[in-house]
Amino acid sequence: MDSNKRPETMERITTPELAAAFIDEQVAAVREQVGDKKVLLALSGGVDSSVVAALLIKAIGKQLVCVHVNHGLMRKNESESVIKMFKEGLDANLIYVDATDHFLDLLAGVSDPERKRKIIGKEFITVFADEARKLEDITFLAQGTIYPDILESMKAAEGKKAVKSHHNVGGLPEDLQFELVEPLKLLFKDEVRVVGEALGLPHSMVYRQPFPGPGLGVRCLGAITRDRLEALREADAILREEFDKNGLAEKVWQYFIAVPDIKSVGVKDESRYEGWPAIIRAVNTTDAMSATIEEIPYEILHHITHRITHEVPGINRVLLDLTPKPIGTIEWE
Ligand code: XMP
Repeated sequence: MDSNKRPETMERITTPELAAAFIDEQVAAVREQVGDKKVLLALSGGVDSSVVAALLIKAIGKQLVCVHVNHGLMRKNESESVIKMFKEGLDANLIYVDATDHFLDLLAGVSDPERKRKIIGKEFITVFADEARKLEDITFLAQGTIYPDILESMKAAEGKKAVKSHHNVGGLPEDLQFELVEPLKLLFKDEVRVVGEALGLPHSMVYRQPFPGPGLGVRCLGAITRDRLEALREADAILREEFDKNGLAEKVWQYFIAVPDIKSVGVKDESRYEGWPAIIRAVNTTDAMSATIEEIPYEILHHITHRITHEVPGINRVLLDLTPKPIGTIEWE
């Protein structure tokens, strides 16, 4: 039987009871596969890698070594909350690598979106591989592969052309070949979330909106600079806070700020104030192939605009993106 093919008889995991049965099965399978050996995992803090981490901690505890690489393109407080949840909450064996300066130095002056993606993806592997080399006795590599990833790789193998190079992590270098542990590889995203909740991960974490691998790097449009990236991070945090407060976070599939590399003239304290615009994008979709725009009440938009323009240094306008996909992709880059 092809272990990468979901059996037609496999029941969809929709309830805590079905999730508990799946977890028991996978805990036993992982213990059997791994024995007393060590397993390495790149823990981004996204839903898939977090659920894998929680599952493996349940199965093998400290035999799992998690590495969280901060590429400097995370949302506000994101790395801190990964550390808090896994190190403090689940007592994970977690290594934190702050590679912010390294990534931002490499990206300086690079404006082409695909080159930015390639640099971030390639460097991510390099930093992760460097950490892996420092560790001894690692036999396995765990990955948060889910069934749509497998279906997509099959399509790619058939030679279909992609609009953007979404795949973030390629293979590790030759000298680091581990056996894979992929406990979620036959699950769809909705099932991963049910399993995540059954493992005790917080609802807000398990149902969080998707976040691209290159992070804020594809939202700080054109060549990334530290000051514009910081403005984007702060504006994005305000947008998320207001969406949470107003019940939009649960309702809208993906929402974020993009900041282009242009400045307009404004006025502040009776003086000329040049600044960047913050562009709000909020979309709904089922499969990310097409998307519609969420209609955000004007009152909320006004409040967000006021907060961003008053609280974020460098931003002097707020714009709303009304473009569906197609013709606009969800991300600007
Ligand atoms: P687009 O912009 O192609 O986005 O309409 C569709 C979905 O994919 C996400 N996205 C990415 N995810 N690496 C990722 O992991 C990427 O390079 C990447 N680019 C876009 C995007 O956030 C949306 O959810």
